Amino acid sequence: MAVLDSVLKAYQSPTRMVHAIGALSALGQESAALNIKRPLVVTDQGIVKAGLLDEALKPLRAAGLEPVVYDQVRANPGIQLVDAGAAYYKKERCDGLIAIGGGSSIDSAKGIGVVAVHGGSIVQYEWGKDPIHSRIPPLVAVPTTAGTGSEVTLWAVITDPDRKIKFNVGGTPNIASWVALIDPQLSVNLPAGVTAGTGMDALTHAIECYTMAYHQPFTDAVAIHAMEYCGRWLRVAYAQGHNLEARYHMSMAAMLAGLSYGTDSAGAAHAMSQSAGGVHDAPHGALTGRLLAPVMEYNYAGEPERFARIAQALGLDTSNKTVWKAAEVATEDLDIPSLNELGFAEDEIPMLAKKAEEDSQTIGNPRDVDAHNYEKIYARAFEAGRHRKVTRQLAHAGS
Ligand SMILES: [Fe+2]
Repeated sequence: MAVLDSVLKAYQSPTRMVHAIGALSALGQESAALNIKRPLVVTDQGIVKAGLLDEALKPLRAAGLEPVVYDQVRANPGIQLVDAGAAYYKKERCDGLIAIGGGSSIDSAKGIGVVAVHGGSIVQYEWGKDPIHSRIPPLVAVPTTAGTGSEVTLWAVITDPDRKIKFNVGGTPNIASWVALIDPQLSVNLPAGVTAGTGMDALTHAIECYTMAYHQPFTDAVAIHAMEYCGRWLRVAYAQGHNLEARYHMSMAAMLAGLSYGTDSAGAAHAMSQSAGGVHDAPHGALTGRLLAPVMEYNYAGEPERFARIAQALGLDTSNKTVWKAAEVATEDLDIPSLNELGFAEDEIPMLAKKAEEDSQTIGNPRDVDAHNYEKIYARAFEAGRHRKVTRQLAHAGS
């Protein structure tokens, strides 16, 4: 039972969710329906090189639109990248946004939209500072990974290199994409490591949002379904990149897990991965996945019945307390890098723990947690990674 049951809760999504294998062909008509004529297409070089940008431009041009490309997005996008994108949007007199890529491209597009409408710099709109009082320009988000859920969330995560943190922007429907256009076909060529990391991110969203203090029946429902899909399909998508059924279900899992956020935050795993991600430029999915099991082990005592339900959703024995071990096994099965491999060192634990304590997502965690507890969780996460070498040797034995 959540502690905040007397607090008014609401759920709102302004996003039209459109999905099918091959849904990209509808990008032109979906954009035209929003009266977009000159969209800024926000993407990264990986998408350009994979030929996906060209694939996306075809239906846009066929529908009579004049797309302008901003392909400078990089992983963990920073303030400068977003502000420069907003300046380009204005200079090119764009009237809408199309994001093609993973969470970095979609979050960048959201940030560009906020600055294009409100002015200034994206740093001013960190959650709790200047309000985002108006809706961003029409944004069609086309995810090419299955993990972030940013296509349907009310958040963007931006990196501040000076403070060495990632900060949240949003918590309001004003930042949400207008259309989430989800085509599982776009993820079939993802490298296995990206499939693993982004899929673990989706699973973490679902588990954290299901157990966080702010959960409500609607978010519970979508979170449970996302967990079921991850439990059934993540390993298949990882092992068989071209298995469209697995890709379809993981795309839906990412969307459902994104919806499970609502207007609220996640919990300790995201407080840790988000704050640590500002220290070293590690991929968010792998880092989050590596932290999930130790956080679940720690959090179990706060919501034992909910963790039993998670075990059931993942197809496990519901009576035991060790559902967190399933997450640890998953990180090994999916060859998620250790914290050391992701660029972190044990002597950074006190600093990382302090940053996690200060992260706003700590607030909703199902068990009281402070810097001291975070140190213990980090120690467990480093320790778990040390066993990895054996797994890697086995995983690669046949290759
Ligand atoms: Fe995440």
